[in-house]
Amino acid sequence: MAYPYQIKTQADYEKAYKKSVEDPEGFWSAIADTFYWRKKWDKVLEWDFSGPDAPQVKWFQGARLNITENCLDRHLDTRGDQPAIIWEPNDPDEHHRVLTYKQLHQKVCIFSNALKNNGVKKGDRVCIYMGMVPELAIAVLACARIGAIHSVVFGGFSAKSIADRILDASADFVITCDGAYRGNKVIPLKSVVDDALVQCPDVKKVIVLTRTHTPVSMIKGRDVWWEDEIKKVETLGNPPCPAEEMDAEDTLYVLYTSGSTGKPKGVVHTTAGYMIYTAYTFVNVFNYQPGEVYFCTADIGWVTGHSYIVYGPLAAGAVSVMFEGVPTWPNAGRLWEIVDKHKVNTIYTAPTAIRSLMAHGLGFVEDKDLSSLRVLGSVGEPINEEAWHWFDEHIGKKRCPIVDTWWQTETGGILISPIATVTHTKPSYATLPLPGIQPAIMDEKGQEIPAPQKGEQVSGNLCIRFPWPGMLRSTWGDHERCRKTYFDAYPGKYFTGDGCLRDGDDGYYRITGRVDDVLNVSGHRIGTAEVENAINMHADVVESAVVGYPHDIKGQGVYAFVITEKEPDNPNLARKDILETVARIIGPIAKPDKIQFVKGLPKTRSGKIMRRILRKIAEGEMENLGDTTTLLDPGVVDDIKQGKL
Ligand code: WT7
Repeated sequence: MAYPYQIKTQADYEKAYKKSVEDPEGFWSAIADTFYWRKKWDKVLEWDFSGPDAPQVKWFQGARLNITENCLDRHLDTRGDQPAIIWEPNDPDEHHRVLTYKQLHQKVCIFSNALKNNGVKKGDRVCIYMGMVPELAIAVLACARIGAIHSVVFGGFSAKSIADRILDASADFVITCDGAYRGNKVIPLKSVVDDALVQCPDVKKVIVLTRTHTPVSMIKGRDVWWEDEIKKVETLGNPPCPAEEMDAEDTLYVLYTSGSTGKPKGVVHTTAGYMIYTAYTFVNVFNYQPGEVYFCTADIGWVTGHSYIVYGPLAAGAVSVMFEGVPTWPNAGRLWEIVDKHKVNTIYTAPTAIRSLMAHGLGFVEDKDLSSLRVLGSVGEPINEEAWHWFDEHIGKKRCPIVDTWWQTETGGILISPIATVTHTKPSYATLPLPGIQPAIMDEKGQEIPAPQKGEQVSGNLCIRFPWPGMLRSTWGDHERCRKTYFDAYPGKYFTGDGCLRDGDDGYYRITGRVDDVLNVSGHRIGTAEVENAINMHADVVESAVVGYPHDIKGQGVYAFVITEKEPDNPNLARKDILETVARIIGPIAKPDKIQFVKGLPKTRSGKIMRRILRKIAEGEMENLGDTTTLLDPGVVDDIKQGKL
């Protein structure tokens, strides 16, 4: 079965784009018609981006459905014996697992019943903190099947980060593993959860999957084993688990992401629009053909895994490869070995992974058969030209289109990207908006910048002027925060937080990076304020300021300027101590790459830190600091430049 909405030519794209702007309701409802509904909608779209309660966005109002009936049940007759998930373990010597649509459906139903047995009900929040094992996808889908709201927390986050998220979402249930394998490391997930739950007395049940056989302590009445709970349901004779009938706008999940303030936001995604948007963009961006093997290297702990390992591919009935490990273990050829082994047709990965593998040379590439590859994808940060060309030449052998996909946790799915085999690609450009996406480039004064003429380029802040089905609806527990963060800067428009450039010759967009105080470290979003808060928790620290600087592999590195109570006797030990604090408060991903101890920070007379100056210093551009005359004490800048304490 081909996809009736698949874009095959440039003319198809232009036609779809035009229709999506002129008649968005007609455009999206035709696509929605190809899905399975318990009841169809009364109204396609209702929206308001500018009122006091903005955003108000409702897609397919009145419709009733369950997303797992679309991701699983409806494929049983047509492709029940086709793999849904091919799971590749961390250790290449362990056997891989294949779950067909029938098997995945069965396992999701069983675990859904186990969740119900443990008291999980529609609307409850369930925190999922697991490694990349098939049971993670099963847990996510089981929540969706019974109408519980999942909140997946990436396995690299600290106990405190888990606790903050559990408390913010008032989650009563946690699903975890004894441990997770990542390269040569074993991460003791259950023990991290135990530390987190000291602060979360309301958590009623913790379901623990066995993966690493790491010893764990189980709390009586609270902690249960996944395997036991499954057995209990199975002895009941595996009753089927009918899917809960959900409203189109019922919350499907919450996923926390960093912003420019200290506290992560719970981005709220709802059911029907998200389902249609992830499936539509999956099929079109990757030019997915039925039966092809698709491999996204992300972790389900991030939005990329939610939308393009689980929901989008399964809604499209695709074969989705899920990988437990890391690209560099046991060696830098692991991803290519997986491509070779499973005859992968599409690989979707991150520039930071490409750059780190590039550094290991071609020896790990040349002995692999990569001839199954047809489409390459990139996500998470701008892909630099060197990485783009390496990917193109050595992995795609110059015959696979590269789709540089720009999007965000908040957008639910890809917004600006080439369409594989259709759009002419251009390195470092995400190229054109997908159908349904209406970008606007804004200047500092809040005015929209007109489209550039041929031979001209414009740049400014990137906004979206019209709703799309996959967009966030709110931030959990604080709708006003959602309005302020995304709809206040440019009234009536969604502000992305990214800067962009547009080329008048082809109309292509190039994303230039965040314009707020958010860093992008190895494709992960890290708020500078969050890292500063963590550093400041260290007993010896008085104040700190964190900025990003260009990093060869990570894209951006974290540079921390730190004022301590007294001059550290042993700066290296003090640095180590601060790193440990950050790892404990946020997680290892937020650890600064450089820590410079300073006596003072450049501040304006009103006490604001001038990050512009610190960024220049971190980048090593000492000569070009710009105007420093408005500083309270311009002397601190010279001290910092000279590394003086
Ligand atoms: C931020 C969103 C969306 C999945 C992964 C990250 C940056 C993302 C690109 C790209 C340039 C990109 C943006 C964006 N970003 N993709 N193709 N080109 N920049 O999701 O953690 O929500 O981060 O990542 O700055 O705002 P996220």
